[in-house]
Amino acid sequence: MLLTEPRPSGSGGSRRLGGEIAADMIYPIVKFGDPVLDREAEDVHEFDTPELHKFLEDMFESMYAAKGVGLAAPQIGFSRKIAVIDVSNGENPGDKLVLINPQILKTEGKQEGEEGCLSIPGFREQVKRARRVTVRAKDALGKEFEMTGEDLLARAFLHETDHLYGRLYISHISALKRDLLKRKIKKLQRAGEWG
Ligand code: NI
Repeated sequence: MLLTEPRPSGSGGSRRLGGEIAADMIYPIVKFGDPVLDREAEDVHEFDTPELHKFLEDMFESMYAAKGVGLAAPQIGFSRKIAVIDVSNGENPGDKLVLINPQILKTEGKQEGEEGCLSIPGFREQVKRARRVTVRAKDALGKEFEMTGEDLLARAFLHETDHLYGRLYISHISALKRDLLKRKIKKLQRAGEWG
């Protein structure tokens, strides 16, 4: 979701993983129209495996490469309840968040603002969201935690959790605006300008 300013390059490279050097994999982002975005993703049952840690690193790198502040696994073609968020877009390591099997526990207040999605590039819409959101999720080790976020982080919790249940942000705009947007996308698809 939510495109940000480009950040300096040099974030990729390789990392030590289980004694081996594993290069980061940048996944292409799945676009609106792909059915993987419309279905509920599967729960994750295995934690703290080398595969999961590698996948999470790749998700962060794919998100940074696409200049997003959040990415859900279905957006790179994996129908699993995994999302990564970094509202600092790589500026503050403490902002890196992993949400596995997340559930929204509580929403409070209101905020209105523009929202976009890496799977719907080139479009942004005003979306009303709660201003303060509490999520319960598991981390990469399988440890359950609860976290409350406000403003952009609250929006990211809702947007990314939606993805894991097959919902896109355009389900929160008016039917009229949604139809208009879908028509524009169809036009791009016909012109071969929608991957
Ligand atoms: Ni999105």
